Amino acid sequence: MFTTLPAVSALPTQDLFEAIETLKKDLNAVVLAHYYQDADIQDVADYIGDSLGLSRQAAATSADVIVFAGVHFMAETAKILNPHKQVLLPDLNAGCSLADSCPPAAFAAFKAAHPGHLVISYINCTAAIKAMSDIICTSSNAVSIVQQLPAEQKIIFAPDQNLGRYVMQQTGRDMVLWQGSCMVHETFSEKKLVQLQITHPGAEIIAHPECEAVVLRHADFIGSTTALLKYAQQSTKTEFIVVTEPGIIHQMEKQAPGKVFIPAPPTANCACNECPHMRLNTLEKLYLAMKTRQPEITLDPDIQRQALKPIQRMLELSA
Ligand code: 13P
Ligand code: SF4
Repeated sequence: MFTTLPAVSALPTQDLFEAIETLKKDLNAVVLAHYYQDADIQDVADYIGDSLGLSRQAAATSADVIVFAGVHFMAETAKILNPHKQVLLPDLNAGCSLADSCPPAAFAAFKAAHPGHLVISYINCTAAIKAMSDIICTSSNAVSIVQQLPAEQKIIFAPDQNLGRYVMQQTGRDMVLWQGSCMVHETFSEKKLVQLQITHPGAEIIAHPECEAVVLRHADFIGSTTALLKYAQQSTKTEFIVVTEPGIIHQMEKQAPGKVFIPAPPTANCACNECPHMRLNTLEKLYLAMKTRQPEITLDPDIQRQALKPIQRMLELSA
């Protein structure tokens, strides 16, 4: 069927901003965006945050429609928390390599091979993996959640081996790690990072815990995207090498004006430090999602119900 949709690309950005604001009111919608989204999506969002902040917002919203500018597992989490609300994702193909690295059937076998273990899953996983988990965590509360568990409790941590290793280091706990990883955070080159530090001796290196241990050992500060942003604001230093997806730099420049933020270089000569999944969302797709009220997130009701418990447990443990 022929539609008028192609005309959207001809609209100036300012008109799209205005059209999105009108649709927010018409639909009683809230736009939640992750820091890795394009700058103009961040500028139109009602709330921008890390995975924990976004989950908290999704749990608390009184909006009828949640427009999730992020990736699929994030929109799924919002839907699990709000089974009766409509959750829209601008591009349904916005997945996550880390979530994909943990297929449910293989994880069920892994879990069966480790009886008596509590399953803590990083929020970057599918609803099916969440449904098989005891507690969900994010990069901002993983260390604290593990610290709250009895010392003798055996733990499986999935799916990110890099975050898992970092948590083990911080807590002194042993955990069985699922060997998943994020294609974006594994792309940073230790060699290029060290070279960059030599040419910027006054800069602090701030890194996300999804990075590999060889990269994290050079960091002055490690934290979730929100923690990195707060650190950059509060630090007395004025120059930072940012070792995570560079979308966060838009907020850093807005919230710490006058400071300089340098994206850490990937191994190859490419833009592969940008998350290809996150970047599938565009302002135009966000507008169209609101106008047409699709693509919408739908979930198997049993999985949706089972996945809610470990998410609620996370929210209780990080209140
Ligand atoms: P946070 O939002 O917890 O910082 O995690 C980053 C990330 O990779 C999201 O996909
Ligand atoms: Fe997934 Fe990595 Fe992209 Fe985050 S940055 S959404 S973990 S692929």
